[in-house]
Amino acid sequence: MADKEHKKNLHPRNFHNKRYDFPQLIQSLPKLADYVFKNKYDDLSIDFADSKAVLTLNKAILSHFYNIKEWSIPNGYLCPPIPGRADYIHYIADILAKSNNNKIPNGSKIKGLDIGIGANCIYPIVGNSVYGWSFVGSDIEKKSIESSKKIIESNDSLNGNIECRLQTNSDNIFTGIIKKDDKFDFTLCNPPFHKSQEEAQAGSKRKVQNLTKQVVKKASLNFGGKSNELWCKGGEVAFIKTMIKQSKKYAKNCFWFSTIVSKKDNLRFIYDTLDYVKPMEYKTIQMKQGQKISRIVIWTFLSKEEQRQWVKNW
Ligand SMILES: C[S@@+](CC[C@H](N)C(=O)[O-])C[C@H]1O[C@@H](n2cnc3c(N)ncnc32)[C@H](O)[C@@H]1O
Repeated sequence: MADKEHKKNLHPRNFHNKRYDFPQLIQSLPKLADYVFKNKYDDLSIDFADSKAVLTLNKAILSHFYNIKEWSIPNGYLCPPIPGRADYIHYIADILAKSNNNKIPNGSKIKGLDIGIGANCIYPIVGNSVYGWSFVGSDIEKKSIESSKKIIESNDSLNGNIECRLQTNSDNIFTGIIKKDDKFDFTLCNPPFHKSQEEAQAGSKRKVQNLTKQVVKKASLNFGGKSNELWCKGGEVAFIKTMIKQSKKYAKNCFWFSTIVSKKDNLRFIYDTLDYVKPMEYKTIQMKQGQKISRIVIWTFLSKEEQRQWVKNW
């Protein structure tokens, strides 16, 4: 099978713009060798439809590029494609740089809030490792919070830089998570995407079929994903609309709010909601990964003057 993860057009600072260097990754994690083979193009690759192979590749990437030596997720939980996740972090860095004389602000004084940190803790890992930022990560699932906590505690570089907070009401996004005196330079989110469990299952099945080019009866998930991770009532539109509405209440706690929007057709509903809550600015940034295009929508309630004041603390 061709190296499906070899993607063009990732952010220029993304470490994963080139083909995976398997010999180098194997040096970081010898176990990866068990899954690497020469494909029909004579290139080294792994079977991207094999969940164990994908998990092991992720461990090797995290060890090699992000200095994460201990990383695991509970069985069946979302195993993130790291190149795409890293892109979001690099675009956030560009957004912050724009308000900072085009210099990316580094270090733990820059604080992000990851809505739906998941069991894999991926965004805080990349943001902390590449830019030294600190994070709070929220989730409605206890098991995900426990898993992310375990990852943080097992890696010295993350310890003390990432805090997990359990969201006890799944109807809430920021309420119950942002404390009165919290200040976040950005919030980010990879929202649950599908409207129902059936839709999520069908989506996973399609993904595996595309990877294997074989008819699949039941999706044995390579990138995994438990129910809460992949779907919520109303899908990504409903989730993001709630997020936008609640963000207004925390207008002065956060500089930039942001979220991924997977479906282009959903943008109009999101813009309608933004027009309703009237932030000071909003914009959409396109992310390209091979054929796949997704987007980040960002918004802020801070005036230009408030923005200037805000960055004085960076
Ligand atoms: C698509 S997964 C993203 C996980 C991880 N950030 C990643 O990118 O791989 C969405 C996550 O949002 C969580 N979630 C769902 N509703 C939530 C809410 N109201 N507040 C916080 N997290 C929520 C899910 O439990 C899940 O972990």
